[in-house]
Amino acid sequence: MENAGGEQVEHEISEYIAASDWKKVIDLGQVLPFNSRVKYLWVWPLQDDLERIQEALVRFGISRVLSIGCGTGLLEWLITAATGISVAGVEKDEQWWRSKYATRTYIPMVFAEAMTNVDESQGQQQTTWQAMMFCYFNNGAAFREYVKNFNGHYVIIAGPMEGRGVHTDPLPFGAKFPADQDWEVVHSIPVGSENLNQFVIYQKRSNKEAIYFS
Ligand SMILES: C[S@@+](CC[C@H](N)C(=O)[O-])C[C@H]1O[C@@H](n2cnc3c(N)ncnc32)[C@H](O)[C@@H]1O
Repeated sequence: MENAGGEQVEHEISEYIAASDWKKVIDLGQVLPFNSRVKYLWVWPLQDDLERIQEALVRFGISRVLSIGCGTGLLEWLITAATGISVAGVEKDEQWWRSKYATRTYIPMVFAEAMTNVDESQGQQQTTWQAMMFCYFNNGAAFREYVKNFNGHYVIIAGPMEGRGVHTDPLPFGAKFPADQDWEVVHSIPVGSENLNQFVIYQKRSNKEAIYFS
């Protein structure tokens, strides 16, 4: 029964995606019980949230985002469909994601087995990614490695607020960055209907003035 329900939800999501109907995907997320909806995505945005995300990304000149640990890629698909801002995904463990046990995925993925140097692996392409995103990421050491090797000025962390009984590493506020780098929060947006998640934009401090006043 559980599986049948899951297959039905995946089928509906895929149908809406094929029709580019991101509003129906969002509505579906809201009717699913919490325990079921998080199987597809930890942070289910509302329409207003996506508008605020678009405003913020445009304001900071972010038009291409690389999402590390994208899972199904549904959040990334929603952001792209609703805002036109392109979001690509990176996952680890290609074998598992290609297996019959894996959840369906909604965006093309780059696989990064034990890889944290995205700049190196993506060659020329990386220069156009202005932000690296981590949504419910769960490996603080890998987070720091990815950030250390990233040349862009923005890092986005989507995840639960502290003290809500859900833990991620990094948490959206107070993330532990590489020791020799200075990052600060420049914008945050509450996301979803649960009063749980935040979408927080960090900017590399050394670049801040150049970006604001150029
Ligand atoms: C809790 S899931 C979150 C998935 C998705 N972002 C979401 O919000 O639904 C964390 C994801 O990070 C991925 N991950 C963990 N370490 C990683 C690494 N070093 N490189 C890429 N992905 C990684 C895991 O495979 C997993 O899919």
